[in-house]
Amino acid sequence: MAAEWWKKAVVYQIYPRSFKDSNGDGIGDLNGITEKLDYLKKLGVDVIWISPMYCSPMDDNGYDISDYYQVDPMFGTNDDMDRLLFEAGKRGMKVILDLVVNHCSDEHEWFVKAKQDPDCEEAGYFYFKRPEDGKEPNNWRSNFGGSVWTELPDGRWYFHTFSKKQPDLNWENPKLREKIYEMINWWLEKGVAGFRVDAITFIKKDLTFASRETEDGLRYPIENLTDYPGIGDLLAEMKAKCFDRYGCMTVAEAPGVSGDTFRRYAGENGYFSMIFDFTWENMEGETDKSSVEAVERWKQRILESQRFTSEAGWSGLFLENHDQSRCVNKYLEKDQIGFAGASAMAVMYFYLCGTPFIYQGQEIGMTNAEWNSIEEMDDVRAKGMYREALEQNGDPQKVLEYFGELGRDNARTPMQWCDGKNAGFTEGVPWLKVNENYREINVKAQEERGESLLAFYKKLTALRHQEPYASVFAEGTIRPVLKELPAVIAYEREWDGRIVTVAVNFKKTEQEIPVVGGKCLLSNEGELQQMGERYLLKAYQAVVFDGMIK
Ligand code: GLC
Ligand code: CA
Repeated sequence: MAAEWWKKAVVYQIYPRSFKDSNGDGIGDLNGITEKLDYLKKLGVDVIWISPMYCSPMDDNGYDISDYYQVDPMFGTNDDMDRLLFEAGKRGMKVILDLVVNHCSDEHEWFVKAKQDPDCEEAGYFYFKRPEDGKEPNNWRSNFGGSVWTELPDGRWYFHTFSKKQPDLNWENPKLREKIYEMINWWLEKGVAGFRVDAITFIKKDLTFASRETEDGLRYPIENLTDYPGIGDLLAEMKAKCFDRYGCMTVAEAPGVSGDTFRRYAGENGYFSMIFDFTWENMEGETDKSSVEAVERWKQRILESQRFTSEAGWSGLFLENHDQSRCVNKYLEKDQIGFAGASAMAVMYFYLCGTPFIYQGQEIGMTNAEWNSIEEMDDVRAKGMYREALEQNGDPQKVLEYFGELGRDNARTPMQWCDGKNAGFTEGVPWLKVNENYREINVKAQEERGESLLAFYKKLTALRHQEPYASVFAEGTIRPVLKELPAVIAYEREWDGRIVTVAVNFKKTEQEIPVVGGKCLLSNEGELQQMGERYLLKAYQAVVFDGMIK
């Protein structure tokens, strides 16, 4: 059981650039995180996941690493990191880092050498092709738009799943693998408690690199080529040589891994402790997200994925991360955004089977920002797609609208600490604009108000930690209930003879449910109204009971 400590944990994701700036250069940093450890402790956080803080030219905000062993000066020093680990440990919190090993930066010394000398050892750490016709080696499209291939002056092309400043590492090369394992173990020795593992399903390629047919004659999307056969051997090796030796927590970004593959990734003895559940993340195409029909579709996806993952393994549960728009915008129509909807969503996902992750700012209900032009944005993905639209006679305005609504910059605007200058994020000029609503939505205001989303999140984490419920959530089975009630997402968790019932009314109107026995452990909208054998749930009311439906 001790080996699975992460099942009872609440994880908080920090995007360091946007969390807290301690020295006025407009960029969040490690000392800023250390300053806020007490805040996180009070919130009930057990594990902090820090998005990349390694040396990087910041083409993809640190997901392009030029030195795996050094903290980027922008974020501080390795000593700052040691202090952060120490201070977190003192407060009983663990730290996990982002492990980005599908690719590195084109400014990493390996790639610099490989570029200079096609015969050096490091040239074998990447994928190079020298096509005779001098054209792109195939028609695959990178995740950030454009080809996966970029040409070097000497006629060689190198492969990149993401931007051209993120050359893919050649995992077929045992020497490269050893270098990576050495680096992973170096950080584990330092005391990090594990890793969030970036884009890991891309590490195995189809080595024929053959072009694929596409219906529209455009490039073939690389995202269709994840989890390629043979990847298991690589992942099993990394686990045996690194993760297993330290009993650490690993959570993989492995979208699309489902069915029996899920078991291999996140089942007992899987390659990872858990993988993120991406199955209900996407709301694209829903024209009225708050309609009963849309909620019903969402509910089916959540319940189906829980049915499977709870039995096959363990998943990371999330509403937001640094690649997503804000959850209140994503799952609610604009006129429904507010405490009720935000807290209802929080209750819904917090007690599912899996480990809950909170993304910075989610706990105060931060929203998407307003984007007026591509220049205001920072995201390399948005910029790449915009460029592609211009080049391929697409509609750049559409791209702008798309990213305004769903783009990653929405999650990356600075954390809103107070209603003062720059929301208390920095004394200088923030690297990305602060959301204008910081005067209403900020930590300080919510700390002062007894009834706030922040206060409610504290209750959520407290319940997640309180025995015997902590064990019910970590060990218990899950069973959907009240399935027939439209837009009610409800389930029972059961362990050791105890049943906890969670019921959330995602309707914009009130709705009756049968009475639940036992005491009410949590409600986001005050006292429950009872009418005979029925409870009346208000719009977006969410309740948790120590007991079962009568
Ligand atoms: C993952 C990260 C994302 C990054 C990409 C490339 O998807 O979450 O932010 O751009 O990998 O490293
Ligand atoms: Ca700074």
